[in-house]
Amino acid sequence: MTTELFVQLCYLSASILFILGLRGLGDAQTARRGILLAEIGMALAIIGTLLRHEIITYQWILVGSVIGAAIGTWISLSIPMTMMPERIAFSHAFGGLAVSLVGISEYWHAQQEGLTLNTLQITATGFEVVLGALTFTGSLMAFGKLQGFTPGRPMTFPGQNAFNFGLIAATLGLVGYLIAFPHAVFVFYAACALALVIGVSLVLPIGGADMPVVICLLNSYAGLAASATGFALKNNVLIICGALDGGSGFILGMMMSKAMNRSFANVLFGAFGATPEGPQKQLTSTGPAPNEATVEDAADVLRAARSLIVVPGYGMAVSQAQHAVRDLAAVLKLNGCEVKYAIHPVAGRMPGHMNVLLAEANVPYDQLFDLEQINDEFSATDVALVVGANDVVNPAARTDQSSPIFGMPILNADAARTCIVLKRSLNPGFAGIENGLFVKPNTMMVLGDAKKTISAFTHTLKETA
Ligand code: TAP
Repeated sequence: MTTELFVQLCYLSASILFILGLRGLGDAQTARRGILLAEIGMALAIIGTLLRHEIITYQWILVGSVIGAAIGTWISLSIPMTMMPERIAFSHAFGGLAVSLVGISEYWHAQQEGLTLNTLQITATGFEVVLGALTFTGSLMAFGKLQGFTPGRPMTFPGQNAFNFGLIAATLGLVGYLIAFPHAVFVFYAACALALVIGVSLVLPIGGADMPVVICLLNSYAGLAASATGFALKNNVLIICGALDGGSGFILGMMMSKAMNRSFANVLFGAFGATPEGPQKQLTSTGPAPNEATVEDAADVLRAARSLIVVPGYGMAVSQAQHAVRDLAAVLKLNGCEVKYAIHPVAGRMPGHMNVLLAEANVPYDQLFDLEQINDEFSATDVALVVGANDVVNPAARTDQSSPIFGMPILNADAARTCIVLKRSLNPGFAGIENGLFVKPNTMMVLGDAKKTISAFTHTLKETA
């Protein structure tokens, strides 16, 4: 078999494995296998690429691989799950930069050697460099907002959307000019520079808390840029996996927007999702007081419960309470209580956040239910145990037309006979709004770190068993 045939076979197998991997990721039970298939696919894509005859020396490739593998391993082992959006934004930034640099080097070589790129090559190179550059700066901005290096609130100015559209139109105009005149070197670099500015200016008006959707969109741009690189380099695996990346990032962003009852346009141009700055807004002192309860009071209710639905939210991730939740569920089951978990599609800060945490704690998949599957069951349930969730159980989404989350589907925790809410304070969640659930007569608020509170429940129940 010739080397070229072997390389193409590696690429074909890698592409099939990427597709099977993505399919596996669609379900919690097959997700691990999906990741493994995608990993094998990536290994084959790398092996195929290393065998290409265009490679002159392996020296620098080896140095880059060792450094990259060391950084990747360190990141995977040290970054906590709650910082996953930041981590993804950071790696996309470098993915975008790499794609852009490949395009610049291809163009630079062609100019040095006096070659004229054909229409397909220059179109692909132009889009590759522009999409890569805007993914680079946009992802760095997203990372900065999530990490608090830049203000998380939307930064707006009059005429901002018009300004952004103007920048995009100007960049597209430059790429169009380049396609007509491939040797216009200045135009090529001007398009790159404008794309770097677009990345920053598109992310500026978006609130830090909306960054997960933006990151999905940037993921999609990075995928399209990789696909364009594939056309420029005549590399099939890049075309296919770039298209998969671009498509899946876009679909994920759409699904997240839908679950928040927002349109893509509203996320991108609506200047919503500000991370509250300074001291956070508490419940107004004039309204009804929340019904605060002690661990012992709540444990009494739990002891008597015959059915319980756990509603996990972002606070469970912060507190890393998933193992404590599983231990409590085991004690309750011994006491004759049926325990289920209700998973809201945007609970936490990234898709599947709660599923991942509960899987880590070995909570059986068949106890996890999506919003549509379980919402009607709350009214026939003794206790809804809300573990660090806030917006996803806020009844204002159903009743208050003036609320920013009005229309968002929520879990009907308030319909349970008793709703026990675990959080540290009366501060609002992601959307920065008050939650009427906290003052309902059937709600018991047990304030404190969720993990500590749940461990105290388990301890009390065991002691009095
Ligand atoms: P949030 O509404 O953000 O509320 C989380 C709550 O957890 C906070 O009110 C906080 O209250 C509490 N908390 C934090 N640390 C805690 C700890 N150690 N112990 C106990 N409680 C703790 O979370 P949610 O209900 O999961 O809703 C998610 C929000 O994120 C939605 O608005 C959604 O639209 C948005 N969002 C989600 C995604 C995805 S894909 N999941 C993407 C973008 C945006 P205290 O500070 O008082 O403790």
